[in-house]
Amino acid sequence: MTRPATPADCLLLFGATGDLAQRMLLPSLYGLAADGLLPRALRIVATARSQLDTPGYHAFAAEALERFIPEERRTEAAISAFLDRLTYVPLDASDTKGYGALAEAVGETPGGLAIFLSTAPQLFGATIAGLAGAGLAGEVARIGLEKPLGHDLASSRVINDAVAEVFPENRIFRIDHYLGKETVQNLLALRFGNALFEPLWNAGGIDHVQITVAETVGLEGRVGFYDGAGALRDMVQNHMLQLLALVAMEPPSQFDATAIRDEKVKVLRSLRPIDRTGIEKLSVIGQYTAGSVGGAPVPGYADELGKPSSTETFVAIKAHVDNWRWKGVPFYLRTGKRLPQRQSEIIIQFKGVPHSIFDARGAQLKPNKLVIRLQPEENIRLLMMAKQPGLDRDGIRLREVPLDLGLANAFADVRRRIAYERLLLDLIEDDPTLFVRRDEVEAQWEWIDTIRTGWVASGMQPRPYAAGTWGPSAAIALTERDGVSWHD
Ligand code: BG6
Repeated sequence: MTRPATPADCLLLFGATGDLAQRMLLPSLYGLAADGLLPRALRIVATARSQLDTPGYHAFAAEALERFIPEERRTEAAISAFLDRLTYVPLDASDTKGYGALAEAVGETPGGLAIFLSTAPQLFGATIAGLAGAGLAGEVARIGLEKPLGHDLASSRVINDAVAEVFPENRIFRIDHYLGKETVQNLLALRFGNALFEPLWNAGGIDHVQITVAETVGLEGRVGFYDGAGALRDMVQNHMLQLLALVAMEPPSQFDATAIRDEKVKVLRSLRPIDRTGIEKLSVIGQYTAGSVGGAPVPGYADELGKPSSTETFVAIKAHVDNWRWKGVPFYLRTGKRLPQRQSEIIIQFKGVPHSIFDARGAQLKPNKLVIRLQPEENIRLLMMAKQPGLDRDGIRLREVPLDLGLANAFADVRRRIAYERLLLDLIEDDPTLFVRRDEVEAQWEWIDTIRTGWVASGMQPRPYAAGTWGPSAAIALTERDGVSWHD
């Protein structure tokens, strides 16, 4: 059964000359168009401040496709058919006068108008007002919002209030691109499509959970944005808390937007606040200094930035979800820039067997571990104990061996899509399941704000770590104190 969809007639793309548009949005839209997945008549109206005309934007888009789409997936016919959908309208989003021309280019959209805002948040208010004034925010319009949506609870409320004046919540699609990643959805399949794990998926069966999102990149020229954000706001507030919520939530009654988001928000609201009293024991922050990543020397963060800074490029946190299911189970979160490898994974560390029958035979047991790897390749593996072949005259030998879901092999014939392909299509087809609801965002900010306030109150400063290492040594101590090692 396919879910009902009301595909849009037009996609209106703000920020159309930006980095995200080049690297992700245009390649994603091309991918969908080339595979016949976009509604046949869908037009794309692109807008930004740059004074281009439509042929000029076509040249811009063609270059982006050349850079970011592998050659074997580019054909002249597909590129030209894709460019035919694109119209460009230059617009100073802060000036209401320009929106008339935009509305003219958008034209009639009886089936629906999907708007995607990938602009600086300072422009959100003016853009929303401009859209409303030009009649582009009517009943058929829905709006996708790219992060950052504020830098704390108060500023996110201001943005959400401004959007809510014009768009009701069910027509607001807040993007967290991690929710578009295949393995993230596979987490739902793993948990709720198999009877195996659920009985153990609680404080009775699980010792702790680790979530790591490690990146090798540094500032990447995002000086203005990143230094005002830091790892906690850039990665934990959104992506990592969404992953945590999907791991920890109760089974939703159905795979639909309300049921799933209802369950996630309950988890986010159950996060134990980390305030001034616990902050130094429960969190570690770091900032990278010069070092080497992948064998190449790289400068430190302050050198890249050109001035000293107290922004954290690494954060590790010991979190708790205070509810019945997760009583006493730590969730260790860790993310950072300039770490040794690009590696995102969720580790579910199960408890050991209650009694080992092998003790007298000298065999050591290790508790089972489920490794859900998101990046660089998707993979799910369960580490289990198995007997090493042999006659066991000197005792039984057991070894940890992986039971590998081998997604790469099982689905070798299926192309892995960019997260934005799915999210753009969902926006175009009006399916909000994989977008973040306001109550979730606010619960996320509330928890994050308490942590930040704690850092300020306790005077915590980022500890230096050399680029190419796994963060400050205090991050290792954070788990080792509990007898737990990070899974590197
Ligand atoms: C973004 C952050 O949201 O996610 C970036 O702003 C980060 O700092 C990126 O690099 C990571 O995304 P991915 O998909 O490469 O893991």
